[in-house]
Amino acid sequence: MTALVLDRLTKLYGDHAAVDALSLTVAQGEFLVLLGPSGCGKTTTLRMIAGFVEASQGSVSLSGRDITRDPPHRRNIGVVFQNYALFPHLSVFENVAFGLRRRKRPEAEIRTRVARALGLVRLDGFADRSSKQLSGGQQQRVAIARALVIEPDILLLDEPLSALDAKLRLEVRQELKALQRLLGITTILVTHDQDEAMSLGDRLVVMHAGRVEQIGSPQQLYREPASRFVASFIGRGNFLEGTGTGHSFTTRNGWTLAAARPLDRAATVLIRPESITLAPTAGAAMVPARVALVTYLGPIAEVALELAGGDRLVVEQASGGWLDGVEPGREIGVGIPPEAVVGLGAEGVAGA
Ligand SMILES: Nc1ncnc2c1ncn2[C@@H]1O[C@H](COP(=O)(O)OP(=O)(O)O)[C@@H](O)[C@H]1O
Ligand SMILES: [Mg+2]
Repeated sequence: MTALVLDRLTKLYGDHAAVDALSLTVAQGEFLVLLGPSGCGKTTTLRMIAGFVEASQGSVSLSGRDITRDPPHRRNIGVVFQNYALFPHLSVFENVAFGLRRRKRPEAEIRTRVARALGLVRLDGFADRSSKQLSGGQQQRVAIARALVIEPDILLLDEPLSALDAKLRLEVRQELKALQRLLGITTILVTHDQDEAMSLGDRLVVMHAGRVEQIGSPQQLYREPASRFVASFIGRGNFLEGTGTGHSFTTRNGWTLAAARPLDRAATVLIRPESITLAPTAGAAMVPARVALVTYLGPIAEVALELAGGDRLVVEQASGGWLDGVEPGREIGVGIPPEAVVGLGAEGVAGA
């Protein structure tokens, strides 16, 4: 069942489109992540859904109802901002109770629902604290409880973990994921952090300059990126430019690679660093390459290689074994499995 539909949603500031005809559909219970670099329009999109920013064009429908012109408090949407935005003069209890008081719910119901919401974010016993006495992680949990207590149709989170330190960020991320699964609440989270996006989202929407670049599961985006922008934003990659013909691709430097899929339209191929095979010597399917640098990163080693024609590759391998003794300047063998060669269109070309 469809929960939310954005249809050509647009926000113009002067003649600049912060969000440019963005269309997408969110399923009931889905965890959707909007991912993209700073300034690509993520916050503006979320704020148009919540009603804090007026759409210039297009529409927002929630549970089959057009809410584009509804004021925020009529939308039954829970919102969590980056900077917590708790009321500092209110207790934890009153912060969470805020939305219910606005809706004039009876006192007994408010008590029950606030207690339940605080339990969900593991803050039972904190009701009487002042919100000023809480750590960053606790404040963000209160903000989540405050958004959930109204039993919203959809939960919107704008970079909710970015103000937390690295360890806490991972902890709250896991909690958030578990909570979303437990409640089955339709959720849209905004982030510029690809790890966060990959670990939380059922589907990710990669945004670029106010537009949707690609929508897909984390696996789809990683394995079959639609553009170089997506490929370099999600994970790392080697990008080789050249010309595709049938199941082969010839780089500008004259190296020909076999590809599992036809590459007739490709002007660039992506090869992920972990998909490349290395051997101590060249031979059979392994072409010679000169080691430029080996960097040990604990469980993996990163090997920078240069091929005879001048193509360069970065390779990630499990460290240990023969690789441990390899010095820069040495010649080794490199193999590219055909299924690891992913075609991309030229940057900026339609259909890329
Ligand atoms: N109130 C505003 N007035 C003018 N331009 C704005 C306003 N809010 C956002 N923008 C511009 O819109 C674009 C998208 O901003 P934003 O949605 O905040 O991006 P993100 O959240 O992805 O970093 C940016 O170019 C930003 O400068
Ligand atoms: Mg933002």
